[in-house]
Amino acid sequence: MIVIKGSRVVTHDSIIAADIVIGDDGKIATMGRGMRAARSERVEAEGLFALPAAIDSHVHFRDPEDVSKEDFSTGSASALCGGVAAIMDMPNYRNPPTTTVSAYRQKLQIASSKSRCDFLLRFGASEHNQQEAAESGAPQLKVFLTDTKSELSCSKQAAISHFRAFPREKPVCVHAEEQSRIEERQKHYRAHEKIRDKLVARYASEFVLEQARKLNRRVHLCHLTTALEIEMCRQLPNVTYEINPAHLFLSISDLKRLGFLGKVNPPLRDRREQALLWRCIGEDTIIATDHAPHLISHKLEGAPGFPGVGTMLPLMLNAVRQRRLTLEQVARICSYNPARAFRIFSKGEISAGADADIVLVDMKKRWKITAENRLSKCGWTPFEGWEVRGSIEKVFLRGTLAYEGDGKGGGEVLAKPGFGREMKPRQ
Ligand code: NCD
Ligand code: ZN
Ligand code: ZN
Ligand code: ZN
Repeated sequence: MIVIKGSRVVTHDSIIAADIVIGDDGKIATMGRGMRAARSERVEAEGLFALPAAIDSHVHFRDPEDVSKEDFSTGSASALCGGVAAIMDMPNYRNPPTTTVSAYRQKLQIASSKSRCDFLLRFGASEHNQQEAAESGAPQLKVFLTDTKSELSCSKQAAISHFRAFPREKPVCVHAEEQSRIEERQKHYRAHEKIRDKLVARYASEFVLEQARKLNRRVHLCHLTTALEIEMCRQLPNVTYEINPAHLFLSISDLKRLGFLGKVNPPLRDRREQALLWRCIGEDTIIATDHAPHLISHKLEGAPGFPGVGTMLPLMLNAVRQRRLTLEQVARICSYNPARAFRIFSKGEISAGADADIVLVDMKKRWKITAENRLSKCGWTPFEGWEVRGSIEKVFLRGTLAYEGDGKGGGEVLAKPGFGREMKPRQ
């Protein structure tokens, strides 16, 4: 047994002073003041906040596709140092694309032996694998509406047949940008953010939402960048959406500084849209990073995407220090909402009976984000050198100390590869 003493416990709607008692089964046994438990290990948490560990429901750990950028061991280490105890990994594009049952099973085995944090894998939709995807038993499907130069892409027609075939209550996660408009605009523009303008995203989202409505099916829209799309999602009961912190903390004004590193899909938007996105954060928001590690050499060649799993919670905590968010909101949008949306009811909340996935945070400590202390194999971050307040002191995963911070941004990942378990959503 472990007793976390003297923390202030943050839930999605309140903060209470309480000790947390963790049972030997890795679950929270009970909470309250003045808790003592026989033969227990005591963790001093006076002055610290206890948050439910974050869940990053959109990462690309590249395993086994291209382990020179990331693999399950390094990706999950980066997750843990950032207070993320569970991830949902996207299908691979190639080597092999996760569009067959055998590739999916192979990836499950790799994740089981290498992941340090809990995980869930998504099945990939291709033009013709509707039946295989639907019958795979996978908990979620990913549909790309843009050309990915791989199996992992769908025409609108193929997407519609996936929406029909995949079990209606299981989420289909969609990268919604419209390929035909991208191609048209490529004839006239060179700048990435001009080619993939807001209408590229909006038209594709409209298409997906129309299908979700017609079929009354569960859909999740990935990395939304505009207020309008979020308003549209809010009209439908079966639809959830996520915002990538990169689109909250960066805009096209950062492109000067970031140069070729600033390319991402969907692109960074103008400052006005960035401000609107902040105002959209609400009861239903899910924060997910789209952790898309590429080596700098690939970025130079134009690869889109940012690493993010290690910077999500630090950036959100810093936003609390800046009074842009409350801690309860952070607990809601980084933990509670993704757990509920994807039906992982054992996680996302510090409460009796839940998995003891807990982050102890010191909101006073200042530190600097660096690629080195974020631990991703890709070796860079768009937030290099950013000074943030709120340090991640300890991360527990199912009651086991999985990461211990040094209070200065560094720390030690204690969970070994293979400690992570597959999460099984309740359908
Ligand atoms: C992602 C990647 O690199 O895998 N890149 C990106 O710019 N977001 C793919 C994706 O999520 O669209
Ligand atoms: Zn995407
Ligand atoms: Zn992605
Ligand atoms: Zn790359």
